[in-house]
Amino acid sequence: MTKNKQPLTIVKMKTMKQQGDKIAMVTAYDYPSAALAEQADVDMILVGDSLGNVVLGYDSTLPVTLDDMVYHTRAVRRGAPNTFVVTDMPFMTYHSTVQETMYGVRRLMQEGFANAVKMEGGSEIALMVDACVKAGVPVLGHIGLTPQSVHQLGGYRIQGKTPEDAKRLLEDALALERAGAFGIVLELVTDQVAAYISERLSIPTIGIGAGAQCDGQVLVYHDILRYDPSYREKKMVKTYADIGATVRESIQAYVQDVKQQAFPAPEHTFSAGDEVVESLYGNANGTSVSNKKVQHT
Ligand code: KIV
Repeated sequence: MTKNKQPLTIVKMKTMKQQGDKIAMVTAYDYPSAALAEQADVDMILVGDSLGNVVLGYDSTLPVTLDDMVYHTRAVRRGAPNTFVVTDMPFMTYHSTVQETMYGVRRLMQEGFANAVKMEGGSEIALMVDACVKAGVPVLGHIGLTPQSVHQLGGYRIQGKTPEDAKRLLEDALALERAGAFGIVLELVTDQVAAYISERLSIPTIGIGAGAQCDGQVLVYHDILRYDPSYREKKMVKTYADIGATVRESIQAYVQDVKQQAFPAPEHTFSAGDEVVESLYGNANGTSVSNKKVQHT
């Protein structure tokens, strides 16, 4: 755990790539998840719109709003004041006009206190990336499986399985780099294609299900910890704990304790003392029935 660590900068990230130092990123959505991630020394936190799936209970990221992202980004910033925080631009907030894009970016940075924003898409959003970068806003790109386009992609499919697809991914990555993105998330991209893109770019790639050759990795907090009521194994994820089971079992034990009157026990109880008890119940025989009930101090 590092005290008062210096947050990563986009300049340092480029140096890390050049030196072969891997970047470790994790998602977080609230104060405790962010604080624990910062204590664990992550390089960057992503307030992902996976918020929709893992925290808000939607079946995709599409219903997540700008207000949701601002609210959760603020909480993350309070938990991780010394970590570089990137936040997702939610579905359809950066596709119509530069003005609308700027409105979203302004709120995420001024009200949410994010350091940077992430946008899904390739060449087609290069104009928006360029506008943000020119306004001084660091932008992280995101190509490959882009969950906001899940219906267009026909499901959560692996990308980069044909030569045409590999070429398209490379062109998108280069377009984002030219537009000024400081890095690019590669999601569910085949290993070799991700490796080739990473070699061709001067900016870091952050992989999720994109193999070990990316310049960094990102995973969803709830996946790492299996903090999910119906967790299913995912090939791209390594789990490090089973928090879901721990939470379920702990709450079950609490419920049992309450039913069996094992909680609260004397050590969890505050006593008012004899004077107060006597003022309430009287002390006709020296000891009232009620006082006996409140014997533990
Ligand atoms: O929303 C998210 O958590 C993401 C990561 C999966 C990269 O975009």
